[in-house]
This record gives sequence, C-alpha cells and structure tokens, in this order.
Amino acid sequence: MKTKIMNTNRLSKTLEKALNDQMTKEAHAAQIFLSYGAWADSQGCGGIANFLFRHSGEERNHMMKLVEYILKRGGKVTVTAIPAPPADPKSINDCFEKVFQHEVDNTTAIYAVAKMAHSEEDWATWNFMQWFVKEQIEEETLAMNLIDKIKIAGGENANSHSLYSLDRDLEKTPDDAESAEDATTENP
Ligand code: FEO
Repeated sequence: MKTKIMNTNRLSKTLEKALNDQMTKEAHAAQIFLSYGAWADSQGCGGIANFLFRHSGEERNHMMKLVEYILKRGGKVTVTAIPAPPADPKSINDCFEKVFQHEVDNTTAIYAVAKMAHSEEDWATWNFMQWFVKEQIEEETLAMNLIDKIKIAGGENANSHSLYSLDRDLEKTPDDAESAEDATTENP
C-alpha cells in the first residue's frame, strides 16, 4: 500500500518562492551596504562607513527573519547566488541618493509579497509581512535623513569641512529612525 506523506508546508508554491526571493534581496541589500561602506572608508569617511556597515548587518538580520519564517511554516529555504553590488558611488551625495533609491525599491518588493499574501488569504504571511512594511517606513526615514544631511552640507558641492562634520555625526547616528507611531502630542 502506498502511503502518502502528509504535506506540512503551509506556504503556497508562489509565496514560498516570493519569500525566498525577498530573502535573497535582503542578502543583496547587505552586500550593497557592505560595498558602499568599504567605498566610503576608502574616501576617508570612516563615520559614514561605520553607519553603512551597521546597516549592512541590519539587512542580514532581515534576511534571517525570512529564513526563520519560511522554515517555521514548513517551507523550503533556497539559498542562491547573490547578485554583485552596483558600481561604487561617485560621491557621498550620490551614495546617499542610491541608498534611498534602494530602500524605495525594497519597499516596492515588500508590498508585492504582502499583496500576494493578501490575495491568497494567507493571513499568517500577511501578518508577518506587516513587520517589514513598518520597518521600511523607518528605513526610508533613515535614508531621507541622510539626504537632508548631505543637502545641508552642500550636496555635490559639499566641502571637506562640512563632509568632516557629517562623517563625525554619522559615526554615532542610531540605526533606527524614530517611528511616527511612537509620537505623542507631548513628544511629537
Ligand atoms: Fe531590509 Fe533596508 O530593508
């Protein structure tokens, strides 16, 4: 008698693939920030490099969250090659603009997975993806703050003095931006 092995994978094939793809995207993000950080250091901006290296670590944590979730749902984790990071930025201004664009692209990818979970009525995955939706608000805020800072420093024309203070400032900048949800009338 043929015994059928019970299927304990609680993810559809399409969502399993989408989650695996997102896992690879987070690993790619980690490589991008690692590469930009190494570039920044070679430009004498050790503080900016430090900030980007810490951010790279955060992206790896995002990757691990996806690995854990796929496994928890009985799915298969497929680790693939990670695409190479893009070419080095041309300037700190260019670097920060690329960081922002990357976060916006990642938000788009996360929305697509959330939308897929919604249309499949996989509420567990939909709920899981809400963490990433919220995290992306912070990540975009963090990237927007970088753009504001480099703008004040003079953008493409930032002089070495203003770049120096920006570099010192970012050395100590926390990895997390303040969340809008935590604001109160007393403490906006
Ligand atoms: Fe993992 Fe920057 O989003």
